[in-house]
Amino acid sequence: MDSILVTGNGPLNGQIPIAGAKNACLTLMPATLLSEEPLTLTNAPRLSDIKTMTQLLQSLGAEVSSLQDGQVQAMSSHNIDNHVAEYDIVRKMRASNLVLGPMLARLGQAVVSLPGGCAIGARPMDLHIHGLEALGAEIELKEGYLHAKAPRGLKGAEIELSFASVGATENIMMAATLAKGTTVIRNAAREPEIVDLADCLKKMGAHIDGAGSSSIIIEGVDRLHGATHPVVTDRIELGTYMLAPAICGGEVELLGGRMDLVGAFAEKLDQAGINVSETDKGLLVSRNNGRVKAVDVTTEPFPGFPTDLQAQMMALMCTAEGTSVLEEKIFENRFMHAPELTRMGANIEVHGGTATVTGVERLKGAPVMATDLRASVSLILAGLAAEGETLVNRVYHLDRGYEHVVRKFSGVGAKIERIKGS
Ligand code: EPZ
Repeated sequence: MDSILVTGNGPLNGQIPIAGAKNACLTLMPATLLSEEPLTLTNAPRLSDIKTMTQLLQSLGAEVSSLQDGQVQAMSSHNIDNHVAEYDIVRKMRASNLVLGPMLARLGQAVVSLPGGCAIGARPMDLHIHGLEALGAEIELKEGYLHAKAPRGLKGAEIELSFASVGATENIMMAATLAKGTTVIRNAAREPEIVDLADCLKKMGAHIDGAGSSSIIIEGVDRLHGATHPVVTDRIELGTYMLAPAICGGEVELLGGRMDLVGAFAEKLDQAGINVSETDKGLLVSRNNGRVKAVDVTTEPFPGFPTDLQAQMMALMCTAEGTSVLEEKIFENRFMHAPELTRMGANIEVHGGTATVTGVERLKGAPVMATDLRASVSLILAGLAAEGETLVNRVYHLDRGYEHVVRKFSGVGAKIERIKGS
């Protein structure tokens, strides 16, 4: 397994390009199953999760070709000859469950393995099941697989989500595009990736209103046609790289960054004494002189502070002046980066879903272990600001969600290299 060696090297300066959003691309790709005509996605990120989704769609009979070094996913689901999403693919990536809604709508049946838990939590699918059953699907759990069928097709319904689940909103919205009649999703997730999916589905001929608000209305249509759609900018990659000048000092321009994608996060950075401003190419981030101030953070569904930026923000708070309380309200086990940061001299106390961080002047480099995608990059951020060398092990987690990490950080002056594993 590869590792990444980071050496604290002072302020960072320059530009970092931000890629298309992993979490948008992973829901846009299954949308190809809704139409017999080709769907092409541009600005797709080059990530291992995208390769996994490609394998899954191909296993169902879709044709997927990654063109232009993976930045274009040209897909055609003319012949879908398999409706079973096998465990050995689904267990690698929870987002595989996003083929459930489209397959039910297109084929009237689907067998999708339950993803099983992952490092950050149990990741159940009860909200997906509740919503799809409301549309008329019959879903049974047998030997770890969801067996779903809609023999009489799907019918529009009013659905209230008990939690604004991103994946459940996406599965229900995609299924509802081909259901008979009107579907209303209440307490829908409001993430920008939901808006991006709705924009793509509308280009394919779907009738959707309200995406981005907590009530989404979908008028079913008989069929959807092909389209070409650019994947929206990745707000989590954007937020991650905004923290590089915040934790190291210096000034970095994030190319393609948009303030509307990182509202609550940028507000927290402002409270901590970090300057964020808009330029004609993206966002410019710099740190005032002196230490960052400690701020409290509670993760919430969009437009609140994103859970996917909690680990990275904790790294910044480890070097802040004062004490910060971070509350993780979305996932039940998302503080695995805390003991690793403690190895670097951080002062963190975790009790259940709350972490109390008392900032220290400077972290010290140390060998650490990446445990999940966002934890791995928080360790790199900590290493960039630490004294000495930090060796981050198990960086395959990183490859799932961050393309060209070494190139992007070294492009602004970081001392960072990837070490091939045995
Ligand atoms: C999406 O996961 C993202 N993944 C996650 O990003 C992100 O952290 C999460 O949304 C929250 O923003 C993709 O988009 C591919 P949820 P998803 O359904 O859809 C519970 C990353 O690092 N829940 O909003 O799985 C669930 O257990 C990843 O890029 C149920 O209880 O998130 C969790 O506690 C990590 N029942 C909470 O809701 C359900 O049926 C949020 O889940 C569904 C979810």
